[in-house]
Amino acid sequence: MNNLDRDDLICNCMGVTKGEIIDAIKSKNLITVQDVSDETGAGTGCHSCFEDIEDILKEVNR
Ligand code: FES
Repeated sequence: MNNLDRDDLICNCMGVTKGEIIDAIKSKNLITVQDVSDETGAGTGCHSCFEDIEDILKEVNR
């Protein structure tokens, strides 16, 4: 995963980047999308980023 990916905006509603989500998952051992929402705010708006958050969770917790 390169640094460009980290700057990708995953949640447009809340302005949360991929890097922020990855760091939260790693540092707090997050498992579910709900965990990520509680921690970062991502996914608490229109919910259209749920699938992307799922993908990042799978990628990091593989
Ligand atoms: S884009 Fe994440 S809640 Fe809308």
